[in-house]
Amino acid sequence: MDTKKNIILTGDRPTGRLHLGHYVGSLKRRVELQNSGKFDAINILIADDQALTDNADNPAKIRDNMIQVALDYLSVGIDPKKSTICVQSALPALHALTFYYMNLVTTARLSRNPTVKAEIQMRGFADEGLPAGFFSYPVSQAADITAFDANVVPVGEDQLPMIEQTREIVEKFNKIYGDTLVLPKAMIPENETQRRLPGVDGKAKMSKSLGNCIYLSDDVKTVKKQVNGKMFTDPQHLRIEDPGHLEGNVVFTYLDALCTDAHFAEFLPDYANLDEMKAHYQRGGLGDGTCKKFLINVLESELAPIRAERAKWEADIDTVYDILREGTAKATEITNATLTRVRKAMRINYFDDRAIVKEWEALLRAAKQ
Ligand code: TRP
Repeated sequence: MDTKKNIILTGDRPTGRLHLGHYVGSLKRRVELQNSGKFDAINILIADDQALTDNADNPAKIRDNMIQVALDYLSVGIDPKKSTICVQSALPALHALTFYYMNLVTTARLSRNPTVKAEIQMRGFADEGLPAGFFSYPVSQAADITAFDANVVPVGEDQLPMIEQTREIVEKFNKIYGDTLVLPKAMIPENETQRRLPGVDGKAKMSKSLGNCIYLSDDVKTVKKQVNGKMFTDPQHLRIEDPGHLEGNVVFTYLDALCTDAHFAEFLPDYANLDEMKAHYQRGGLGDGTCKKFLINVLESELAPIRAERAKWEADIDTVYDILREGTAKATEITNATLTRVRKAMRINYFDDRAIVKEWEALLRAAKQ
């Protein structure tokens, strides 16, 4: 279905505070999109039901992180006047849609989802047993996206398989039941390093258990400790005069993802831009200490305002609660309307009107003739 509207839906699982990887891979972009004025609606879903699919034994963890994620959103500049922040578990239409979409996906197709496959490995579900809810969460994600009639889904690269599956479900639904659902597109960061920021230790992903994250809510001391104490540079760069290497050098990966020419003008006017700095590093003569100091300045110029904004919201959790409640009320209307449309398309909207009584009567009459 073509709504001729530009609608965004995106979300996060509330399993922990959001970190720099979320920020450069998605949050920063969301704020830009929000402020671009190009969208008719922007919906941001705190996906607590999805978080439960692999945390069924620990709902308290999800409950605790609801507020952390909400605070992270507000502190990076998600504006509740422009964007609707809502809570997945409080939207029953999503559950119903998931149930219908389950029938449009085979278990074989679900088994091939590369992101879910990797997550199954990481969580040890292959040995322990795989929860059916976790296995099929891409279907619930399709419900999230379609319930809002979203045509644009800004996400990190790891979410591409989910959007692909959503598109397949939409195509199948529309083919069987008639044109009803909007076909969504993923939107991923153009900058490659922003798509997948490594941990400070150079490991592929920031993860709490590896202790290699920089959280948006970390204080200056922690940020410095992560960069100075843990961040990987070039192990062959022993003396300042030695030529340095950029591959696998996390300091430069982070600079690639974050720094602008303005940062050079402000903090390191020896260079006009990152290319000049890189060239000097590769030539030799630029020390890791200087690079790290610059990175900390760049990080702090991004993180300090976020931290200050968070402090304000933290002092007013009542208001944050109301933002979630009001956003969820708005999302309830939107998603219920989609469910009504879906039930109508499937012709299971029995109690919308009594016309079906006539249809059933005619059927019974015809059977007797
Ligand atoms: N799977 C996403 C993640 O792990 C979270 C999510 C849930 C989501 N529903 C969504 C993202 C809908 C985009 C659209 O980060």
